[in-house]
Amino acid sequence: MTAPLAKIDATPYATPSSVWRLRTDAWEFLGYGSKQLTALATPGKGVTAAHQQMLVEVNRKLNVLEAIEPYWAVPGKAHLATLRARIEDGDYPAALDLVEPVTRGFARFRHEVDDRATDLDPEAQPNDQTPMADRRPRFEVLVVDDISETVREELFAEMAGQRRESDAFTYQVNVVPSLEDALIAVMLNPTIQACILRPGFAVSARNRPGEDLRRYLDGLLDPGLPQFTPKARILSLADTLKELRPELDLYLVADVSIEDLAGSSNRRFNRLFRREESMELHLSLLGGVAERYETPFFDAVQHHSRKPAAVFHALPISRGGSVVNSRWIKDMGEFYGLNLLHAETSATSGGLDSLLDPHGSIKRAQDLAARAFGARRSYFVTNGTSTANKIVHQSILAPGDVVIADRNCHKSHHYALMLAGAQVAYVDAYPLNEYAFYGAVPLKALKSMLLDYRRAGRLDEVKMVTLTNCTFDGIVYDVERVMEECLAIKPDLVFLWDEAWFAFAGFHPIFRRRTAMAAAARLQANFKDPAYRARAKAQRAALFDPETGEPVDDAAWLRTRLLPDPDATRLRVYATQSTHKTLTALRQGSMIHIFDEDFSHLNEVTFNAAYMTHTSTSPNYQILASLDIGRRQAELEGFELVQRQAYLALSVAQAVARHPLLKKYFRVLNTLDLIPEEYRETRRPMPLRDGIAAMDEAWRTDEFVMDPSRLTLHIGNTGVDGDTFKHKYLMDLHGIQVNKTSRNTVLFMTNIGTSRSAVAYLIDVLVKLAEHFETERAEMSPRALAARQAKAARLLATPPPLPDFSRFADKYRSGAHTVDGDIRTAYFTTYKNDACGYIMPKELIDRVRAGEEIVSAGFVTPYPPGFPILVPGQVFTKEILSFMAALDTREIHGFDAELGFRIINDVPAPRERG
Ligand SMILES: Cc1ncc(COP(=O)(O)O)c(C=O)c1O
Repeated sequence: MTAPLAKIDATPYATPSSVWRLRTDAWEFLGYGSKQLTALATPGKGVTAAHQQMLVEVNRKLNVLEAIEPYWAVPGKAHLATLRARIEDGDYPAALDLVEPVTRGFARFRHEVDDRATDLDPEAQPNDQTPMADRRPRFEVLVVDDISETVREELFAEMAGQRRESDAFTYQVNVVPSLEDALIAVMLNPTIQACILRPGFAVSARNRPGEDLRRYLDGLLDPGLPQFTPKARILSLADTLKELRPELDLYLVADVSIEDLAGSSNRRFNRLFRREESMELHLSLLGGVAERYETPFFDAVQHHSRKPAAVFHALPISRGGSVVNSRWIKDMGEFYGLNLLHAETSATSGGLDSLLDPHGSIKRAQDLAARAFGARRSYFVTNGTSTANKIVHQSILAPGDVVIADRNCHKSHHYALMLAGAQVAYVDAYPLNEYAFYGAVPLKALKSMLLDYRRAGRLDEVKMVTLTNCTFDGIVYDVERVMEECLAIKPDLVFLWDEAWFAFAGFHPIFRRRTAMAAAARLQANFKDPAYRARAKAQRAALFDPETGEPVDDAAWLRTRLLPDPDATRLRVYATQSTHKTLTALRQGSMIHIFDEDFSHLNEVTFNAAYMTHTSTSPNYQILASLDIGRRQAELEGFELVQRQAYLALSVAQAVARHPLLKKYFRVLNTLDLIPEEYRETRRPMPLRDGIAAMDEAWRTDEFVMDPSRLTLHIGNTGVDGDTFKHKYLMDLHGIQVNKTSRNTVLFMTNIGTSRSAVAYLIDVLVKLAEHFETERAEMSPRALAARQAKAARLLATPPPLPDFSRFADKYRSGAHTVDGDIRTAYFTTYKNDACGYIMPKELIDRVRAGEEIVSAGFVTPYPPGFPILVPGQVFTKEILSFMAALDTREIHGFDAELGFRIINDVPAPRERG
């Protein structure tokens, strides 16, 4: 027997996003440690130095786990206590027997210990919570109550007694004593799907939380909480749990005054129970998870595919008809599997709901998506966010409406605005000249532009603002603030947030705050808050001249953090998401989420018409089913997966920063590189690296923040440009796919499917490449080396500044003091052959230098960087020409090597507006 091991009293773990790793690593180390201790223990010889050293290490891991495991039901505190006792007894083989089932569980279920795959010590789950060996999904239920061990055991027994073989899911129950413990538990343990609140809980955590969590909790909790009445505490805990993880089912179990609580708590709790109703509670727990598990359209497709049917309909592939009997394309069925063919169907063949007029399973699936993403309505789109954007633009805009659009937006917006006949006012994002791409649009630029329109007497024409959040490179707006301040200037402004890259964000509390839907909901709540209303009223008094009722000077409006008039404002917010880019969905699966207070009386009809305009009458049902499944996954495990993807990206960044050879050739660009100081209040290069509290602080205060799951790797020191690095070194040599480069950077993204081993592979490949560059340089001739170094110097030097977007030719503009242009008239001019011609670069340069106004007939887009530098109707400026001359770009869309640039020769009169 060895001496008792020293315990600690504070939770030593770093940050919630890394706990899953800390936990798996600690258990794995205990397995290794138990084996080592077995080998090191020599009977009769006492404890050697190596043995003692290993005991110290093992103790350290036990301490880590003793701080973490109370937040998990399985394997649980008791299992860990037994393990500690075995080690202290020197019975290391028995310790190993306790560890192995746990690590086996991790290997099979990511970081969750599945007790069905294990034979955990029965002491781990007193009162027989031993589950049935089956494949039903499992989850954990958190009970919040300060109860004795005996009562706890009775509770476990009572809940276990309700189980049935026919239950769709299994669950284990864990108890934490306090409100703070409950919040820590739901942040650390993603397997918790439901919480049962019982009024006896305490406020403070039993063990002192680690510094990071302490600060995070302080930011969440009302400082007056300890003085709250029991009822107020219950409501406060429920609200905070919902803020952290809105998907959780909450139940309240109380003996007395349940009726008193009922009125104020219905909104927060799925149901209220009296203590004796444990069967009802059990069924509700299962029912709550079943509601999220439900996939109405996927189920309908499966059901349909199993029904016998003969196909006399225009879909030869249906039921595999044209494939399985073919002599030549059988391999299609073999590769994709027969289910895919059996599932192929169409609305017009009957039996399944129709996307163009949904009333059944598609409608229900869309309603569930709206709940999951916090929208009032959600619509599925089968042709990507490119189409989703066109639908929203068309639904809102009539010809002549002014739209403020990020000049750096995805091309689908430009095309949509051209189709809609909008007057487009492009606004510039801040440039990142050193890396040759753009950041995001500063709020000040948006406000200035709105104020320009107000000054020009044209504010009523401005209908919509459209921005990309987050940008391709991971720059994230303060969505709430942007909408708040813009609405203060124009209270009925519509917002389209292109969240093509941000669908995952709704499933983590910090990311979620910067999504369009969450920001809209918060603004709506603020508008009802008397304190907010009073502040807004006081501000209006200062910003309008009391005599004339006119706004005071624009400088004051620019300086002030504006609050809209809650009574005049209408919240009209749209978000388009490529579900397929960041959540589980087949390619092209996208969604439109809507939070529009005027939708049903202003926009529903035009939205439906726009939806009809752009949606195929033969939408792919597999894409729709995958959206339904993706939503299920996001609601049940999105929180865990989002945490994980951010953490994995961080681990790559840290590896690059620490490894001597990696840091010689590569550098991960951080917040300080990509977000200029004027747009930040915080100064941390990688907030998540410093913990969740640091990330929370930056995401609450800074104008722009970085999505930590994206890594922009600076590769200038390699002397290889981004495009070559991507194709030659990453793809061809190592099979690593990335989808964006700039002249000296490569963008890597983790996603919810990224594994630890994929990350390890990436780091390994980067090390190999760095070694390759090192060897190559060592063996190069002096002349080749000089050439390589010169190339690296060019890639490191700042290229010519990215040009501001050009301006529309006067003929296409509506006012001398505003910038919008009529992109559609310009575009259709190009259909008249005699109105257009071509010009070669040399002549173009000469004529522009001579002061001539030359107007582009098309979109001109160099790849990379990949954003249009001209749209139809805009003029070639000197800055644009020098930028293009300095670009070492092979591919320029809109430029024909033989003919040159297409230009408008004869600029027609602007079309009549009105
Ligand atoms: C910002 C942005 N919006 C929209 C799209 C188009 O999305 P999808 O590929 O789903 O059509 C993209 C595609 O990359 C994008 O980057």
